[in-house]
Amino acid sequence: MSYNDKFAVTTPLYYVNDLPHIGSAYTTMAADVVARFQRMRGKSVLLITGTDEHGQKIQRTAEGLKLAPQEHCDLVAAGFEVLWQKLNIQYDRFSRTTSSRHAAIVKEFFQKVWAKGDIYLGQQTGWYCVSCEEFKEERDLLPGHRCTLHPNREAEWRDEQNYFFRLSKYQNQLLALYQERLDFILPASRRNEVLSFVSQGLQDFSISRVNLEWGFPIPGDPNHTIYVWFDALLGYVTALLDPTSEPTLENALSKWWPINLHLIGKDILRFHAIYWPAMLMSADVPLPERVFGHGFLTKNGQKMSKSIGNTIDPVALVDRYGADAIRYYFLKEIEFGQDGDFNETRFVNIVNADLANDLGNLLNRTLKMAQKYCDGQVPACSDEDIPADNPLKAQGLTLGERVAQAYESLAFSEAANAILTLVRYCNKWIDEQAPWALYKQGQQQKVEQVLYAVLESVRLAAYLLSPIIPDISSEIYRQLGYLTNCNDKTLINDTLPFTTQAAWGVLAAKQTLGEPKPVFARLELP
Ligand code: MSP
Repeated sequence: MSYNDKFAVTTPLYYVNDLPHIGSAYTTMAADVVARFQRMRGKSVLLITGTDEHGQKIQRTAEGLKLAPQEHCDLVAAGFEVLWQKLNIQYDRFSRTTSSRHAAIVKEFFQKVWAKGDIYLGQQTGWYCVSCEEFKEERDLLPGHRCTLHPNREAEWRDEQNYFFRLSKYQNQLLALYQERLDFILPASRRNEVLSFVSQGLQDFSISRVNLEWGFPIPGDPNHTIYVWFDALLGYVTALLDPTSEPTLENALSKWWPINLHLIGKDILRFHAIYWPAMLMSADVPLPERVFGHGFLTKNGQKMSKSIGNTIDPVALVDRYGADAIRYYFLKEIEFGQDGDFNETRFVNIVNADLANDLGNLLNRTLKMAQKYCDGQVPACSDEDIPADNPLKAQGLTLGERVAQAYESLAFSEAANAILTLVRYCNKWIDEQAPWALYKQGQQQKVEQVLYAVLESVRLAAYLLSPIIPDISSEIYRQLGYLTNCNDKTLINDTLPFTTQAAWGVLAAKQTLGEPKPVFARLELP
C-alpha cells in the first residue's frame, strides 16, 4: 500500500477514571467523520481509538471503588465501546494501554531512547496535578496550589528520584519542524501557542514515578513505573499492529506509520505537539503528519464540571435523540478548532430546522410529486436536459469539490453549510417553479426537469453529508430507489469513486423511487 492510499487517524486514548463524557464523544465523532470521508475518497483507513488505563489517577479511582485496577479498567473500557456503537463510530482499532502487546512496544521503545542516551536519573521536585497527570509550574497554579483545569483538587508536592527524558536536547529540532511543516500543528492559533512555549526554552521531563504500582516497570529498575503519558502516547503505535503479528516496533511501524492525523483537545496539545515528536526523534521514528487541537465544549455558556453538576451524559443524549442528530449538531454548529456551546433548546431547533424541515420535508414533498406526476420514478431526464444556468445544477456542479476541500481541512461546519445551502435553494426553486401548476398547465417536460434537479440535488446532499449523518443519508438513498429491497444500512456505494458520486447528474432516469417516509422524526424537548 503506498503512502497516498492510506489514512490513519487517531482519537486520544481516553482515561478510564470515569465513564465517557461529551468531550471524548466530540473528538471521536470528528474522527469518525474524517475516517468516513477518507474512505469515500477511496483510501484504506485505520481509525484508532482506545483507552489510557495506567497511572495514579486510575489507581486511586479503582481503590476508591474497592476494585482491582484491571477490573475497573475493563468495566470502563467496555462503556466506551458501547457508546461508540451507539454513536455509529466505525473504529478499526481499540487500543488499551494495559494490553500485554502494548507492554512489549513500550519496553522496546524505552530501550531505544535509553540507548540513545536520552534518559537519565535525576531529582524531581514540584507540584503534581493527579487529574492532569502532569507537573505544573507554581506560577500556573491558582491560590492553594490548585490547577486551573481542576480547581477542586490541590496539586500534590513531590520530591523524588525520577528518570528524565532529555526534551531540552530537541528544542532546536522541534523549532525547525514547526518552521518546515506549517501544518504539523493545526489550527494556526495552536501552532503559535506551541511555538511561543518552545521558544521560551524546554525543560527535560520526568518519565517515571516511584510509589506507584499501576503501570509498566522501568526496564532494569522495577522500583520505578513508567510515566502514564510516556506509555499512553505509544498506544498509538501499538494500535497499528495487525492483530496476529508479533508486537515489535518494526511490525507496528511497517504498514500504517506515519499516522496522518492525531485529533485531540487543546488541553493535551503540549503532549502531542512537543513531547511526542521529541520522543519519536529520539527513537529515530518518522513523525506523524498532523496534530489538530480542537476547542472545548461548554454547556449553556458555562464550563462543564461534575461539582457544578452540569455535565452532559453522551449516552443519555444519544438514547434520547439518536446518533445523527448529535453528530450533526456538534459538527455543524461548532467551528472545528474553536470552543463551542451545547444548549438543548438550540440543539433541538437547529436539527429540526435543518434535518426535519429543510432536508427531510424537501425529499418528502418531492417524492410525493414524483409519485403523482412521474409514476413514482425518477423523471426521464438526464444531466444534459437541465440547462447549465439552472441554479441547482450550477451549484451542484461545484459542490462536491468545495465540500471535499472543507472536509480535507477539517472544516466540517463549512462542509455542512455548503450542502445545506443547496438544500435551501431546492426548497426555494420548488416554490418558485410550482411544479403542481406546471403539471396543471400540461407542461410535463418542465415538471420533470424541476423534479429531477431537486431529487438529484437531494441525492448529492445525502452523499456529501453521509460522513456526518450516515443513517439519514442511507435512508435518503433508499427512498431514492437505491437497493430498495434490502435493509443494508450502508446503501451508499463505497466502491464507486468519490468523483463519480460527488458529481451532479448521477441519478438514473426511470429508477423506481421508494416509499416517501419522514427521514428524520422531529425532536421534542423533554
Ligand atoms: N488520556 C489522555 C489522552 C492520552 S492520548 C495518548 C486524556 N484523556 S481524557 O479522557 O482526559 O481526555 C480526552 C479528550 O477529551 C481530550 O482530547 C480532551 O481535550 C477532551 N475533552 C475533555 N473535556 C472536554 C470538553 N469540555 N470539551 C471538549 N473536549 C474536552 O487526556
